[in-house]
Amino acid sequence: MQLIIDSANLNDIRELVEYYPIDGVTTNPSIIVKEKKNFLLLLEEIREVIGCNRELFIQTLAVNAEEIVKEANYIRENILDKLVIKVPATKEGIKAIKALSESGVRTMATAIYTPLQGYLAAKAGATYVTPYVNRIENLDGNAVNVVKEIVEIIEKHHFNSKVLAASFKSVQQVHDVCLIGAHGVTVPPDILRLFLSHRATEANVKVFIEEWQTAYGEKSIIDANKIKI
Ligand code: E4P
Repeated sequence: MQLIIDSANLNDIRELVEYYPIDGVTTNPSIIVKEKKNFLLLLEEIREVIGCNRELFIQTLAVNAEEIVKEANYIRENILDKLVIKVPATKEGIKAIKALSESGVRTMATAIYTPLQGYLAAKAGATYVTPYVNRIENLDGNAVNVVKEIVEIIEKHHFNSKVLAASFKSVQQVHDVCLIGAHGVTVPPDILRLFLSHRATEANVKVFIEEWQTAYGEKSIIDANKIKI
């Protein structure tokens, strides 16, 4: 199951890639403009931080299929290595995904709200299908069910697409889609950091260290071996 960072912030990406088992980075126009930097320069810097083996997801902005394909080709000429072109799952977007996947370009159908949008995207050859969990919930929809049904459609009908769920505002939302079989999640840095935050774990570590120090003082595991008790 893939774990992706949903951010274009270099400091966050650098820290998370160093500490966590991260498979890639997703961006979208809103995420990119927040960084107030030249678009291509920022993407090149992200590529440098994540290296050539992690996937970098970059979204097109055009609304017409031919223009989406042109933007996708421009991105592919400028950003190297493992690249996924994100395309919103509109009518023109599905046409573009069909054309891009026919020429071997990896795509993500994004901004998905219903199982049938997911079906069309998978059928059009999208590498990833991306339901927007928090945005679905804000519209009073059952996001977990949408993700579950897209997974079922893809698996029952043997499509090659993967469900990479996105748009998370809580750890519970990520937990729920992990359990129902999403193939991956793309998570904002502040939510990802919360995965490990538990008072009990921190308290346990404190006690381990205190008990050790009553026997060995400040000695580490390596140095303590030289002490006779
Ligand atoms: C990722 O691919 C999406 O663009 C992103 O998760 C949307 O998240 P938001 O609903 O928090 O903007």
